[in-house]
Amino acid sequence: MEHRFDFLVIGSGVAGLLFALKAAEHGTVAVVTKKGVADTSTSQAQGGVASVFSSVDSFDLHIKDTHDAGDGLCHHDVVEMVVKSGPDSIRGLIEMGVQFNLRQDGTGDTELDLTREGGHSERRIVHAQDLTGKEIQRVLTENARACQNIALFENHVAIDLVTYSMRMKRGVVVTTHEDTCIGAYVLDKATGRIHTFAAGVTLLSTGGAGKVYLYTSNPDIATGDGIAMAYRAGARVANLEFVQFHPTCLFHPEAKNFLISEAVRGEGAVLLDSRGNAFMEKYDPRKDLACRDVVARAIDNEMKKSGDDCVYLDISHRDPDFVRERFPNICGRCLQYGHDMTKRPVPVVPAAHYMCGGVVVDMDGHTDIGRLYAIGETACTGLHGANRLASNSLLEALVYADRASRRAVQDLAALPAEPALVPPAWDDSGASDSDEAIVVAHNWEEIRRCMWNYVGIVRTDKRLERAAKRIENIQNEIWEYYWNFRMTPDLVELRNISSVAHLIIRCAQHRKESRGLHYTLDHPARDDKRWLKDTILRRPFTR
Ligand code: SIN
Repeated sequence: MEHRFDFLVIGSGVAGLLFALKAAEHGTVAVVTKKGVADTSTSQAQGGVASVFSSVDSFDLHIKDTHDAGDGLCHHDVVEMVVKSGPDSIRGLIEMGVQFNLRQDGTGDTELDLTREGGHSERRIVHAQDLTGKEIQRVLTENARACQNIALFENHVAIDLVTYSMRMKRGVVVTTHEDTCIGAYVLDKATGRIHTFAAGVTLLSTGGAGKVYLYTSNPDIATGDGIAMAYRAGARVANLEFVQFHPTCLFHPEAKNFLISEAVRGEGAVLLDSRGNAFMEKYDPRKDLACRDVVARAIDNEMKKSGDDCVYLDISHRDPDFVRERFPNICGRCLQYGHDMTKRPVPVVPAAHYMCGGVVVDMDGHTDIGRLYAIGETACTGLHGANRLASNSLLEALVYADRASRRAVQDLAALPAEPALVPPAWDDSGASDSDEAIVVAHNWEEIRRCMWNYVGIVRTDKRLERAAKRIENIQNEIWEYYWNFRMTPDLVELRNISSVAHLIIRCAQHRKESRGLHYTLDHPARDDKRWLKDTILRRPFTR
């Protein structure tokens, strides 16, 4: 079946839905999403949105903190533009109905309550308790459901983009590097059918790729779909070696890496080893509020030295009522797993959290491929450099959703009434139903374990080489499987995590220095002479 829309949005987090709502004022929009519309990374974001509201803060300070975290690789024009757009973007959300926490100022007026996180020199995190993403997602979802011009396709999995130059046999692409996107192939999970979505403009907002790693704070949907699809279609991707590990996920076999927000450290929590000693002052003068790369590496080092399975996060010195009120979600979840954080330290470990690299885009979120945009965690805008500053991600998504929608509307207006090329239907002639789904499950597990063991917080040339060989073998197996059997959602995701794993390793092998989130024992120093530049990969031109 063929669907036809003005705009096709793949992914339904803050980036996708905000873009969809803005684009819907100018045309029809399809939002394709793998699970329910609110099953996104946005929904799980606890901390908040970083922006300058305090009288003792300034754009210059926020810009400096972003550059310091990014360790030399942030693009200054992008940082400046995003930071300065922040307050208006947040006011836009408030106008839509998002309820952030407020407090009384000295004169009795209300103002936004601002919290603090690692790497920020001032309080500048706008938040809704410890469930900021959920509140933003709630409002955007309600608005999208009420919007006549938006059609939501839940439980639909995008398989591949359709471009002018695509040779049609199961998504084999002839990359010309001067291509245009005309839609995507999408698998309906309920029926197993693959539909063609033709669109004037396509947006990738599929979030990150935490599921490439065995331990992650990300939801199950985070399989790097947008990055893998864009790369296959011929777009440049960049800086994938910079995988951010969040320092504090709850350590519990059943917690599935439940995140304990950095805001907890922002409100005074301290990291302790198993003997109760605070250790962060050995690593950074900012102690527990150092940037995430520093804190995650320190924890990794402490765990390796002691042989312990975890370290501990202690906020028990603060008033229990304050802790319960400020972090109701985190306190509740910890209690569920037998830890009362108002009384005792809770066990924590680092886990893969955020992909700082992604699909290369310009200041409007436009990729190398005509009429294809990428925003949110899927994109590499230049804001994060080698390490993202906490709570800059929701900010980036808000700002780019606005800019990309404005430019996409112009793209649409420039299109002829009748499309020059209609996407051909998906061809899976010759493929049969798999009777060996175990192969998919096994490869999933192997990729995630291999990436955790060899491409984690601390890398070496040898570990990367070992990982590269293993992932290559698995990719060959997946390729064969892909050609012989009909697509399933698991196979689509497996193909994508294997592609992203491969790209992360290639970027990491390329960068022969340590910078930001990329730390390797073989090249432990930062080398500005050779490596003060992005790592860019592009699928080779093929005929
Ligand atoms: C957190 O609450 O610690 C996560 C926020 C972020 O990733 O920016």
